[in-house]
Amino acid sequence: MAFLDKHKKIETHATLLMVLSLLVVTIGGIVEIAPLFYLQNTIEKVEGVRPYTPLELAGRDIYIREGCYVCHSQMIRPMRDEVERYGHYSLAAESMYDHPFQWGSKRTGPDLARVGGRYSDSWHVDHMTNPQAVVPESVMPKYSYLLRQEVDGKYIAGIMSTHAMVGVPYTEDMIAAAKEDFAAQADPNADTAGLTERYGKATVSNFDGQPALTEMDALIAYLQVLGTMVDFTTFTPDPTR
Ligand code: HEC
Repeated sequence: MAFLDKHKKIETHATLLMVLSLLVVTIGGIVEIAPLFYLQNTIEKVEGVRPYTPLELAGRDIYIREGCYVCHSQMIRPMRDEVERYGHYSLAAESMYDHPFQWGSKRTGPDLARVGGRYSDSWHVDHMTNPQAVVPESVMPKYSYLLRQEVDGKYIAGIMSTHAMVGVPYTEDMIAAAKEDFAAQADPNADTAGLTERYGKATVSNFDGQPALTEMDALIAYLQVLGTMVDFTTFTPDPTR
């Protein structure tokens, strides 16, 4: 066939094939990218999404440091099996203050995008200390040492300033009170009026159940907020998207 003969010319001519492939990829790329420049924004604003509190932010850094993302994703796809198992599919806005985002690409363990509030703090302590005591066949490593590593929020104001530089709306007031808010969230007897005023809804708890403020407290504070910021009983997606 005449058409196939012409195609043979392309397939047997490396330079021509390369030039034409490049052309096709360029057109495809433009079609995907160009519309983004004409959108007001690519992330729908969703009520309830707020920056992490200092303690949650510290916990998030521990999550990254320990490589939890190697086994856990934080992105529920809009497919029925996922939504039934994990809850409402993830919205872009829910990770808009994540730098870098923790969507992950591997699920050796379950997705954690909505693990907040699913288990008690003490369940997390038991599970993180010795996952096999809770789920005998678990391949998750033990993180009991987090219970012994004390933290005091010494560097948290600096970390928050860095996040502010890349667009997280941490105010001067939040940064100035960072250390105080850091400690208050892990102390049920603390005065948390300031924390609530600055961040709105935030869980205050002695997360690890010990007197000392540890990395375990920070990590559990982070896990307990995951997926809880948006109230899905009132959320309706923007129909224009
Ligand atoms: C080697 C892979 C691996 C790593 C690394 C890992 N996990 Fe897991 N995780 C698992 C597996 C497998 C499960 C399911 C069995 C279980 O509950 O232990 C799990 C379960 C969990 C659960 C319970 C989720 C649910 O919905 O039941 C939480 C919470 C969790 N992991 C948090 C963490 C955190 C935090 C870290 C980092 C400090 C971490 N994991 C690191 C493999 C891993």
